[in-house]
Amino acid sequence: MPKHFLHISDYDADDIWEILHLAKELKTKFHGKDNYKPFQDRSLAMIFAKPSARTRVSFETGFEWMGGHALFLGPNDIGIGKREAIKDISRLFSRYNDVIMARLFDHQHIIELAQYADIPVINGLTDYNHPCQIIADILTVWEHRGNLEDLKIAYLGDGNNIVHSWLQLATKFPMHFVCSGPKGYEPDMETVQMVEDGGLSSYELSHEPFSAVKDADVIYTDVWASMGQKEEAEERERIFEPFQVNGALLNSTGKETLFMHCLPAERGREVTDEVMESKNSIVFDQAENRMHAQNAIMVYLAGHSS
Ligand code: CP
Ligand code: NVA
Repeated sequence: MPKHFLHISDYDADDIWEILHLAKELKTKFHGKDNYKPFQDRSLAMIFAKPSARTRVSFETGFEWMGGHALFLGPNDIGIGKREAIKDISRLFSRYNDVIMARLFDHQHIIELAQYADIPVINGLTDYNHPCQIIADILTVWEHRGNLEDLKIAYLGDGNNIVHSWLQLATKFPMHFVCSGPKGYEPDMETVQMVEDGGLSSYELSHEPFSAVKDADVIYTDVWASMGQKEEAEERERIFEPFQVNGALLNSTGKETLFMHCLPAERGREVTDEVMESKNSIVFDQAENRMHAQNAIMVYLAGHSS
């Protein structure tokens, strides 16, 4: 049975820690230029229905560093769910490849892809979530803080796929998570409920950015219009403007606060140049860690699939 990586909530805290420790180990190996080839003669199919820089380059570079071969299949290549049924792609690729990573629109499609695959399927972002990103993010916070105790994350902006994966992580790792954005752009209620029912972390919904970031260890933001919503960009720019992460907000927290963004950033909209370039910004450490986190996820899945 293959083990998939679709949601953080599918994993226990111990599994996540195993992946994080492995990611640190693989990062050291990568920087040490160690010869580490667990995927020799293996292939990774990367299916993209949406654009990407980090996900594509980090998966391809990481898998090839580990000895394998990665195939890039862009939005115009296989026409998943259009030219061919998702469940047929699952079974076809299971005959050729050893791992599938897919970035799709509809979340149900990644679930269907996994359901029919005999090989591990990794979620490289859907409209609902982005689990690889949040594993890389928590790895980065851990590296910078040295621990994950008494963590307050203040997320500013749209209650989107990034927020859903953070909320799922909050069901496994204790934290205080604040989501601050305009009314009508809150995260999915069922996912919020998972955090509230879990009782491990606290969740706060805020419409007031300055009180949201008080005492925050991390201020996190993302684009106001995600892929698939770009026609709403102009309207959203007006609505989200009070939630921009700028110098005044970053300096108002009352402590040294890290700034994070999954990238790509739209500088001048959700975040200013000043914040992106500030000493508090760890966005490129975060982006680098995508590769180490994903390498760890692939090694972990290979070791837990039968
Ligand atoms: N953060 C992230 O997933 O970036 P890409 O969209 O460039 O892959
Ligand atoms: N919320 C963004 C994340 C990009 C990595 C999007 O879905 O476009």
